[in-house]
Amino acid sequence: MEIKVVENAASVEADILVVNQFEGGKTSVDLANKYAIEEDNFKGKFGETYLLPTYGNAPYRKVLVIGFGKKEDFCPDKLREAVAKSIKKCSQMEAKKVAFAFDGVDFDYSEQLTLGAFIADYKFDKYKSEKKDKHIAEVFVQADAEKIKKAEKIATAMAFARNLSNEPAQFATPSELANIAQDFGLDTTIYNKEECEKMGMGAFLAVGQGSINEPKFIHMKYTCDNPKKRIAIIGKGICFDSGGLDIKPASSMITMKDDMSGAACILGVMSIIREFNPQVEVHGLIAACENMPSGKAYKPGDIVTAMNGKTIEIDNTDAEGRLTLADALCYACELKVDEVIDLATLTGACVVALGTHASGIMGNDEELVHNLIDTAKRHGEKFWELPLWDEYFDSLKSEIADMKNSGARWGGASVAGVFLKKFVKDVKWAHIDIAGTAYLEKPQKEFISGATGAGVRTILNYILEQ
Ligand code: BES
Ligand code: MN
Ligand code: ZN
Repeated sequence: MEIKVVENAASVEADILVVNQFEGGKTSVDLANKYAIEEDNFKGKFGETYLLPTYGNAPYRKVLVIGFGKKEDFCPDKLREAVAKSIKKCSQMEAKKVAFAFDGVDFDYSEQLTLGAFIADYKFDKYKSEKKDKHIAEVFVQADAEKIKKAEKIATAMAFARNLSNEPAQFATPSELANIAQDFGLDTTIYNKEECEKMGMGAFLAVGQGSINEPKFIHMKYTCDNPKKRIAIIGKGICFDSGGLDIKPASSMITMKDDMSGAACILGVMSIIREFNPQVEVHGLIAACENMPSGKAYKPGDIVTAMNGKTIEIDNTDAEGRLTLADALCYACELKVDEVIDLATLTGACVVALGTHASGIMGNDEELVHNLIDTAKRHGEKFWELPLWDEYFDSLKSEIADMKNSGARWGGASVAGVFLKKFVKDVKWAHIDIAGTAYLEKPQKEFISGATGAGVRTILNYILEQ
């Protein structure tokens, strides 16, 4: 799909012209006002649509009126959702060229229109022998060309991340993620099992030891002259989470190919970063492995040692993400960066707390956490702060090691957070739990079911706004 800026979208030869109607208002097309409003009493409620053929009397073959709802409730998030809905309608009608002529919107919608169009045009049909859904070829808009170009790149990175998370675990293995990371033209190092052993990554390697697929630790580095800041971004890269010996029930395991969505986000960001040439140094880190039960698997009761020397008693092999992140955080801290941000499908508890609409965020630096929440908000994601009080560590106390990897069920997202904190040293750090937002079991707003590319928009914009 390509977005083209035009002076007047209503004069473009298109299959469909999309116009908006606020509740109680009119559209910019007289014909639509006559039929939709006067004859058919179309109200313009949010998300409602009305379709009208033009019978050769206009450059466009049809007009699609999209309801914007009450003007006072309208916002960039709603615009993105409305655009996505329109694009889905247009692709059902097999339209190739779609023009958008919005009227009466009092904010710059270049970015959200672009995101909405790309998110809605996304399909994961590579394994369908018959590709039913058609893509829109061209979208014509009256908006800011620069902002559109930037949003198009971000949308491409989101689609990249969505493809990776949607990819079955049989293909998206640790080695495959490592191969992908090496294709970005960045300064990339892949550490194999022996090299991770030498670095002392005992927590990460314990998780991976039950699988026949070898673990890989991935380090991608983007740099520039005189960077203003140095940031490390870490993605949880569990290519499949069966739970290990503490095996998950089938109903929980079914979506666990998505347990590398944090890694997919980092790969999405790193796949496009050179095109933006930001004035920051960015390290993308992924401890990639599979959590599998086998004769070689780590066991409840085992004690493992992380890279910083801390010992961990395994209470539950299904609390594996935090073990892999522990070593990735230690590694990140040795890079002497200014900030570390991790993204992880870490806890079911976060999904219970916030559902599928918001990611949980916590950290050791108020300003970093608040900047990330604000960046998310401005670019169409929702981050919500959860506490990281020391009390949450109480249930992680071990009789025989420095800590256990799991404890109380209540407040589980914060318990995981304080566990991670033990591996963060002298650096500003934020942890984003995307367990609820990264993968949808049913369609939601602009998204079809499956991977969403959670975090990509926010992390890229956060980097670009430094
Ligand atoms: N990958 C899961 C978390 C998850 C749950 C992600 C649901 C997406 C949807 C994680 O590894 C896990 O299994 N967490 C356990 C931790 C528990 C054993 C302390 C959980 O949340 O139940
Ligand atoms: Mn798990
Ligand atoms: Zn997991």
